[in-house]
Amino acid sequence: MRIAVSRVIPEVGLNLLREAGDVTVWEGELPPSRDELVRLAEGADGLLTLLTERVDGDLLDRLPSVRVVSNMAVGFDNIDVAACTERGVAVCTTPDVLTETTADLAFGLLLAVARRIPEGHNAVRAGAWRTWEPMGYLGPDVHGATLGIVGLGRIGQAVARRARGFNMRVLYHAPRRRPEVEEELGAEWRELDALLAESDFVSLHVPLNEQTRGMIGREQLRRMKPSAVLINTARGPVVQTDALLEAMEQGWIWGAGLDVTDPEPLPADHPLLRYPRVVVTPHIASASFTTRARMAELAARNLLAVLRGESPPRCLNP
Ligand code: DGY
Repeated sequence: MRIAVSRVIPEVGLNLLREAGDVTVWEGELPPSRDELVRLAEGADGLLTLLTERVDGDLLDRLPSVRVVSNMAVGFDNIDVAACTERGVAVCTTPDVLTETTADLAFGLLLAVARRIPEGHNAVRAGAWRTWEPMGYLGPDVHGATLGIVGLGRIGQAVARRARGFNMRVLYHAPRRRPEVEEELGAEWRELDALLAESDFVSLHVPLNEQTRGMIGREQLRRMKPSAVLINTARGPVVQTDALLEAMEQGWIWGAGLDVTDPEPLPADHPLLRYPRVVVTPHIASASFTTRARMAELAARNLLAVLRGESPPRCLNP
């Protein structure tokens, strides 16, 4: 079998693929352009992609031999699943293996913004630590605060479990109430507007789709407390960037921790970065050694299972 991989991924995944077939890997540090991807994957049976590759009908029509697209990510907004299904192409993802690592980073961002860790660090590096300041670097307490989780899937639940260790009150919003999870996590369901108004921290854990694109805009940000912090480790376009900028300008919220942005990458001169209480990381929520290796392994196993006609562990379409 012939397999194309759109970037260098952890060895464990590449080794599994190489044992099974003829593998071509895009060695560039940046993602391949569409034409480069087509050249790389010409004649391939399986394509292992990352969230940087847009997989749509046009790409699939240029790669008619491809029977499976295995995305090394839990999110799949880069893939037109309907177009794949129409062409009989299986789509696989890597859920579960990154849940805890992503929740760690969401909590890390929450602490970083609230306790002004990057600001303090930058000041020390810049030689601006002059003395102990009774009024310097004050921020909201995390312990005992109210955390609003939007989207109580696997990662949202993992964040809720961490919040319990900080003695936080946990609210959540999801389209459907989850009584079993509410009980286990001690989480209370709220309408989105109520959650935004009551929470000291709001953390987003929804997939990007038609319903969630731009779901946090001016109206939603204005409902938040001026002391509140918004955390986004989901997908950048869930938050309207201009509205977030306005929220910081107008003091509608206190700060934001963003692992994902719109656009991505966020340009270094983007006005959001002028705000010290906006902490931005470069989409690294799943970036632990172990988790990235597990993602690569699962993506490889999914791809091989489809090509071997076995039932793949994680496939979105029949
Ligand atoms: C995903 O898996 O969707 C993340 O955004 C990258 O790990």
